[in-house]
Amino acid sequence: MLTSEQKIRYAQDGYLVLPNFKSAAEMAAVRARAEAIVEAFDPAESTSIFTTKEQVRTVNRYFLDSAQRISCFFEEVAFGPDGALRQAKSLSINKIGHALHDLDPVFEAFSHGPALAALAADVGLTRPQVWQSMYIFKQPGIGGEVGWHQDATFFDTTPISVTTFWFALEDATVDNGCLWTEPGGHRGPRGVLRERFERHGDRVTMNTLDSTPWPASQVNAIPLEVNAGALVVFHGLLPHYSAPNRSAVSRHAYTLHVTDASTHYAPTNWLQRDHTLPVRGLLVGGDTL
Ligand code: FE2
Repeated sequence: MLTSEQKIRYAQDGYLVLPNFKSAAEMAAVRARAEAIVEAFDPAESTSIFTTKEQVRTVNRYFLDSAQRISCFFEEVAFGPDGALRQAKSLSINKIGHALHDLDPVFEAFSHGPALAALAADVGLTRPQVWQSMYIFKQPGIGGEVGWHQDATFFDTTPISVTTFWFALEDATVDNGCLWTEPGGHRGPRGVLRERFERHGDRVTMNTLDSTPWPASQVNAIPLEVNAGALVVFHGLLPHYSAPNRSAVSRHAYTLHVTDASTHYAPTNWLQRDHTLPVRGLLVGGDTL
């Protein structure tokens, strides 16, 4: 599905933007499902927040169990000092994760199929395995920053294979917290894995592996402003970041993290699957490539 020019650009830059990958109808379907999931979510079940600033401290049972569930996480500043939500629940959720693609039929349809499988093959995934899905709201006004990181920190394989599929469900701009990346930052002397997030039992740690500095916005990083429907596919070593959303509009996105089954998936990765929900590829049901 990719042209040879696109393949060369992906190898050089570590990412590729594919406009209009998803239709308005496909996006409307997952947006409606996300809304229904949040509507049905009872905050009494969990008031877990998601923040990249204190990722180790905020990991709890609810987070670990979300590997095989559909779980809602609040924005860091969703709650006031009195413990009550500052704004409506529907405007307070940071993300839903992490098994939407396996457990919800609408997200399953969105997350699989020949187009995605062909793209995965073109970016070098010979036997794709979809470990994680996240619906990210980036809520207006309170949408949290996601600090500079590499996705291989969370999905370690030998050799590194994790690839991210980032679907814009709304227009993403500098104002509402679009992705920033460092073109080419996945290769050469800067293409080193800086951190590894490890799980040992119910404990997690963030270990520094390399002190190579993160990119600096405006210097060696660029914003990826994309329209709703675009798919950004990027390499697991590519540094990326997104700013807080202080604008009045949300920035919904949906992501998949995919590794290659022909590599070794680290047993210390936080996200593991048991026999009740084995990891799957990008083709399901009657799909053929
Ligand atoms: Fe990421």
